[in-house]
Amino acid sequence: MNSVKPIIAPSLLSADFNRLGEEIEMLNRSEADWIHLDVMDGVFVPNISFGMPVIKAVRELAQKPLDTHLMIVQPERYIQIFKEIGCDLLTVHWEACTHLHRTIAQIKEHDMLAGVALNPHTPVPGLEDVIQDLDLVLIMSVNPGFGGQKFIPRALHRIAELREMIERNDSNALIEVDGGVNADNMADIVKAGADAVVAGNAVFKAESPEEMIHRLKSL
Ligand code: DX5
Ligand code: ZN
Repeated sequence: MNSVKPIIAPSLLSADFNRLGEEIEMLNRSEADWIHLDVMDGVFVPNISFGMPVIKAVRELAQKPLDTHLMIVQPERYIQIFKEIGCDLLTVHWEACTHLHRTIAQIKEHDMLAGVALNPHTPVPGLEDVIQDLDLVLIMSVNPGFGGQKFIPRALHRIAELREMIERNDSNALIEVDGGVNADNMADIVKAGADAVVAGNAVFKAESPEEMIHRLKSL
């Protein structure tokens, strides 16, 4: 099914923020495809991460697309500003959007790729009526809010279910998987049908992050 190599999106949440510039230079040199940015508001998830000023600074150094994962309520209020600060892909949570169809359209009107994330308990079929409009679906394989959590195995079934739905609807949406991805479960995730993975701790806590990115890319 997937003869092409998976897209690797290291999550900056696990980077050393004292050396953010060096961490971004490392990602620029590496085989990472995208840089994953986790924006948390302390309401949708029980944690607060970083926001616009940090992303703006990342944009100035990063030579790769910014894959921005909004774990915030009312994400539609911030679409324009995320475009202005240089985000390429904007993913909102299904659970946070009352008017999801409209929000997806607005992201695309702002010339960004549009993604929707599903929490581990959110039924995959809930996406059926928007799947043709999406560029990406983010399957959460942990409960969002923190890096370094354990992969929930049920996510593998959900990836396969989503792959089937994408094919049935002739959608071009990519499947990205986020949470607890590492060199041990990577092959299963790709086999289940994922096109892209996010990796935080697996990359940034590795002895050689660049080597780990290479390894994940080759699995
Ligand atoms: C969790 C975030 C993830 C997280 C992944 O809420 O969405 O992107 O940073 O980190 P790891 O790979 O360590 O689980
Ligand atoms: Zn994320």
